[in-house]
Amino acid sequence: MLLQGKVAIVTGAGRGIGRAIARKFADEGARVAVTARTESEIREVATEIDRKHGAKTAHPVVADVSREPDCEKIVAEARKAFGATDILVNNAAIYGPVQPVEKFSARDWDEVMAVNLRAPMLLSKLALPEMYARKSGVILNISTVGAKAAFALSSAYTASKAGLIGLTRTLAAEAAQKGVRVNAICPGPVTETRMSQQLSKEFAAYFKADADESLKRMLNSVLQGRPQTVGEIAQAALFLVSDQSSAITGQTLNVDGGMIFY
Ligand SMILES: NC(=O)c1ccc[n+]([C@@H]2O[C@H](COP(=O)([O-])OP(=O)(O)OC[C@H]3O[C@@H](n4cnc5c(N)ncnc54)[C@H](OP(=O)(O)O)[C@@H]3O)[C@@H](O)[C@H]2O)c1
Repeated sequence: MLLQGKVAIVTGAGRGIGRAIARKFADEGARVAVTARTESEIREVATEIDRKHGAKTAHPVVADVSREPDCEKIVAEARKAFGATDILVNNAAIYGPVQPVEKFSARDWDEVMAVNLRAPMLLSKLALPEMYARKSGVILNISTVGAKAAFALSSAYTASKAGLIGLTRTLAAEAAQKGVRVNAICPGPVTETRMSQQLSKEFAAYFKADADESLKRMLNSVLQGRPQTVGEIAQAALFLVSDQSSAITGQTLNVDGGMIFY
């Protein structure tokens, strides 16, 4: 068990990649605060984890990470339920409208930034003092290969996720000698999630293309020729938050089947 006795906060844990990460961490002995806006989804994840690992292994927190008081609530409730925060996974994100820059509204831009970039900063700010006092802790940010490539119609999302890589490096530099590691994962296409499936439809509609054909073309640009699974992202997350990666900080790990090479 790689995370025995640890406490993790996983944002966006109601479904998709965040849900898989929360389940994987609980399988490895962690207690997990699972948080998102949709109460039914996080209650379902928490119940599923508790059924498998015992009551109070998971604690659901309904919160909108774009709101600062909700970020405070997440960290406070995790502390109240479990007494500490050893691991913070900033996974919650939205894509925003599939539009070129000239059609993008300032309001949509701000919303994407608030969820994808400001929230990881706020949650890190709230979790770090305790980690520094204990001289141990790990923060993991979920970015995307899109932050290292050039895809159209994703300005706010891509800028926020590239910013998240910058935040990862700065936090790593500030935290390294205080016992805290900070890294990021850049997943490739994880086609089983709601975000991915919605995007696939929206891109196809924008380009008046067939969604299945477009997906096939995109997957042809991946060396392995297939999408990644939520379980594969969760496995990489486990590595980066466990002591198995004790000398790794300030890095971005592409979990993309061979798509981006830096
Ligand atoms: N799927 C892919 O192909 C892919 C590729 C690269 C990177 N990623 C990244 O992987 C992460 C997970 O993506 P996914 O595909 O699993 O997406 P998803 O299925 O849409 O799940 C996103 C999660 O984030 C939560 N969330 C969204 N806005 C929130 C807010 N304002 N406050 C709190 N929670 C919020 C959602 O719950 P509520 O809506 O209930 O709040 C949900 O639990 C994201 O960071 C995404 O950028 C995904």
